[in-house]
Amino acid sequence: MRAQTQKSSTEESTTPADAAGIQAVTVVGAGTMGSQIAAVAALAGFRTHLVDIAQEQLDAAAEQLRGRFDRDVEKGRRSRAQVSAAWERLGTTTDRDAAAAASDIVIEAAVEDLTIKRRIFSELDAVCGPGTILATNSSNIVSSRVADAVEHPERVCNLHFFNPALVMECVELVPHPQTSPETMERAAAFTRALGKTLVTLRKEIPGFVANRLLNAIRQEALSLLDQGVADFEDIDAAARTALRHPMGPFELMDLVGVDVVHMIRQAEYEQTGDPESLPHPMITELYEAGRYGRKSGRGWYSYP
Ligand code: 3HC
Repeated sequence: MRAQTQKSSTEESTTPADAAGIQAVTVVGAGTMGSQIAAVAALAGFRTHLVDIAQEQLDAAAEQLRGRFDRDVEKGRRSRAQVSAAWERLGTTTDRDAAAAASDIVIEAAVEDLTIKRRIFSELDAVCGPGTILATNSSNIVSSRVADAVEHPERVCNLHFFNPALVMECVELVPHPQTSPETMERAAAFTRALGKTLVTLRKEIPGFVANRLLNAIRQEALSLLDQGVADFEDIDAAARTALRHPMGPFELMDLVGVDVVHMIRQAEYEQTGDPESLPHPMITELYEAGRYGRKSGRGWYSYP
């Protein structure tokens, strides 16, 4: 892994040919999602810059990705050569603007705060060439809410990955009313070049498709628990063994983060004004107790 943003000829030669001219990628935000999105891009052959304002966050992300890559080699899922090449293509930096100015697509995966995202987009718009796509990984902040902060809204869209991004196949591509067909075509080609399954929405709606489906299941699970119909462990067991979901809704909340679920519902309420969108009181209770799930050691379940 490099700690700077220059490219080498070896890296360029591996860039996928069918990615609509996209060679270099910047991912803004080295949290769980951003760091794995960057790893996916580097593994697919793109020169990739992972950016964060905090060097410690970049170091922690690099450490986690190194562990994942080593495990992939141990398990025979990837060769040592593949992983080493990806590692060479992946650079970390706190100099967001230099990385973005050298990239053909920037994927923002920063904190889910509209004011911060609007500032990031307006600053990126000022340093990136007009051909650079500016995408947000957010699923609840639709891109029209950041596009009006930039001079070139036609290059803005949502590109939504799922957790864990290294594993989950789906990526949702969502335009806002002014997104250009060219941006959609190039973002679609890029997503396919990542080896992901593309789900294209015709128009934006908070939550998009997958999270809206997921939310319906989650709300029903919370309602069943609230009514005392079954314990959450049994509701999870039903989802796993009767529906063959890889995880039950409560396990999934712990994976995604109870704080993230809370924030998503709150943001949706702020956009729709519909009280049905508010976080379920049981989610709020866990959130206020700091029980965020796997990341805090305790959510619905305990993680010793
Ligand atoms: N990061 C990267 N890879 C991971 C991982 C992680 N956090 N967790 C698991 N994996 C990979 C590893 O390769 C692991 O193999 P290894 O342990 O040998 O290295 C392999 O998956 C299998 O993992 P496990 O044996 O621990 O467990 P599972 O077989 O249950 O797989 C899972 C884990 C892939 C997370 C699976 O349970 C799953 O698919 N769960 C559902 C995830 C899901 O629905 N995600 C969408 C959430 S919604 C969302 O992201 C939207 C956002 O807007 C909130």
